[in-house]
Amino acid sequence: MSNWVEGKVVENKHWTDLLYSLRIEADIDPFVAGQYGRLGLEIDDQIVGRPYSFVNAPHEPLLEFYSITVSEGPLSPRLAKLDVGDSIYIDKRVNGFFTLNEVPDGRDIWMLATGTALGPFLSILNSEEVWQRFKNIVLVHAVRFKKELTYQEDAANLKDKFKDRFQTIPFVSREEADFALPGRIPAAIENGILEEKANLQFTAEHSQVMMCGNPDMLVDTRNALKKKGLKKNLRRSPGQITTESYW
Ligand SMILES: Cc1cc2nc3c(=O)[nH]c(=O)nc-3n(C[C@H](O)[C@H](O)[C@H](O)COP(=O)(O)OP(=O)(O)OC[C@H]3O[C@@H](n4cnc5c(N)ncnc54)[C@H](O)[C@@H]3O)c2cc1C
Ligand SMILES: NC(=O)c1ccc[n+]([C@@H]2O[C@H](COP(=O)([O-])OP(=O)(O)OC[C@H]3O[C@@H](n4cnc5c(N)ncnc54)[C@H](OP(=O)(O)O)[C@@H]3O)[C@@H](O)[C@H]2O)c1
Repeated sequence: MSNWVEGKVVENKHWTDLLYSLRIEADIDPFVAGQYGRLGLEIDDQIVGRPYSFVNAPHEPLLEFYSITVSEGPLSPRLAKLDVGDSIYIDKRVNGFFTLNEVPDGRDIWMLATGTALGPFLSILNSEEVWQRFKNIVLVHAVRFKKELTYQEDAANLKDKFKDRFQTIPFVSREEADFALPGRIPAAIENGILEEKANLQFTAEHSQVMMCGNPDMLVDTRNALKKKGLKKNLRRSPGQITTESYW
């Protein structure tokens, strides 16, 4: 059961024709970086709600969510049209286990995202814990087109602050981009190109991998990482691969 409260839209930033970020003022429970909230709108006399990862870090007062318009979806096209000052429902309660307290220690942490699943990693990266627990942090963002490589300024700020400890590796799958890797993440793990680009190896001893987004990417990437000796991280049997699927 949702416990809807009313929030106010403070900003709706459109990055492309399909990608947008909503900033919302609302009084909800505290969350941990990597968790998600639920956004809702009234459609045909009932509230239709969907989960969205927090993009802001927990200490930041405005709530931020990063979304893509799925044209046939009931909620995302309507969220895209919200204006400053509009009301939006948000669940007072927060949820999710895609958080660092579920991730065992390691030397390197790889954060692999497709599309809008960049969001929870920004929340984690703008919190302190990840910098206290890991030496090397690699953020991988895989998108179809160059223009979908959003939040570049945030990544640049982190790079300025953390220098060699932090690197971002973009993938662009459906057009040429000389600064990005081509194709998909699992193929680049299997052929060694991702490790070469990062100048780090995937090893069961040193690596932790958090990945989020497209469910097919999660399956294919897990299979590629298994061949390198990494396994799924479970509470009863800790491993190296922690995932969150967006659908
Ligand atoms: C735990 C969790 C956290 C999530 N966090 C986010 C988030 O931060 N940002 C976000 O954009 N979405 C997120 N989603 C997906 C989100 O809840 C909605 O499904 C999405 O916004 C589409 O909503 P809809 O009602 O328009 O269509 P839906 O009926 O919910 O989805 C229709 C179809 O759209 C596709 N789809 C759904 N989400 C995405 C996506 N993010 N990227 C590409 N294709 C997608 C799938 O094929 C899905 O079957 C999350 C989902 C889960 C389970
Ligand atoms: N992005 C757009 O231009 C666009 C246009 C029309 C509609 N949409 C809507 O938005 C949704 C897609 O959003 P999106 O582009 O952010 O997400 P996406 O389809 O998940 O694509 C994001 C990235 O994930 C990659 N990927 C897909 N399957 C993978 C797998 N099995 N293993 C590894 N990587 C994989 C894609 O590569 P590939 O390119 O090789 O698939 C792409 O680089 C669609 O459901 C559609 O409704 C998007």
